[in-house]
Amino acid sequence: MNIRVFRTPSDAGIYAASMLERVITSSERPVIGLATGETVIPVYDALVNFVRCGLNVSHVTTINLDEYVGLAPDHPQSYHQFMNQYLFSRIGVRMQSTHLPNGVAPDLVAECERYNEVIRNHPIDMQVLGIGVNGHIGFNEPAHTLITGTHVVNLTPETIAMNARFFSRKDDVPRQAITMGIQSILQAKQIMLLAFGEHKADIIYRALKDGIRTDVPASILQLHKDVTVILDRQSAARLGL
Ligand code: GLP
Repeated sequence: MNIRVFRTPSDAGIYAASMLERVITSSERPVIGLATGETVIPVYDALVNFVRCGLNVSHVTTINLDEYVGLAPDHPQSYHQFMNQYLFSRIGVRMQSTHLPNGVAPDLVAECERYNEVIRNHPIDMQVLGIGVNGHIGFNEPAHTLITGTHVVNLTPETIAMNARFFSRKDDVPRQAITMGIQSILQAKQIMLLAFGEHKADIIYRALKDGIRTDVPASILQLHKDVTVILDRQSAARLGL
């Protein structure tokens, strides 16, 4: 694993966006796997700046990791809205080339199958990942068994509590999500894992330096041959670099 440690999330975001630019400019039909969460905001800000400085993204396909079950695409806390707000509406990507799971599909099993088909048809060149404080990637939560393909997941109490900050009423916090599975993530040609802040230092240590464990889903990234880990000094604090 290639580990890079930056002074600030915004410096790290520029580095991550440069990695994305390399993929975007070196392929006729680049496919980028995207994530949501506070961590990726500096990456999207930097990418938007690159686009304003001339980077063409009109040929890019994007595939997001996950969406909450029960939140329609126009719900303010949906991941559809997050992506529109922080990235899609700010750059010239064609909306029909952006993919997210539909959290209000009438048949969620069929929706997972549809999403697997989207991923099969668009092999991911570079997957962007954040990490939950419990080690989840996408919404692949700590468990005895990690699931390979797209699936509906019951969010853990810890994740629900973390997400509560975005909802005005506790009862509104979604209990389930649709997430891309572990095999789909590992099939990306390149992966970047980002984490910022002191509160991520412990899980970054466990994901990178301990063994591979299903109760730390991100640790499975140790098996991938092209992962870049992008950190700030706080999240890297336990690595002894
Ligand atoms: C959510 C997302 C993950 C993300 C994680 C960390 O649960 N499903 O993809 O990596 O949160 O979020 P943050 O970047 O806000 O710490």
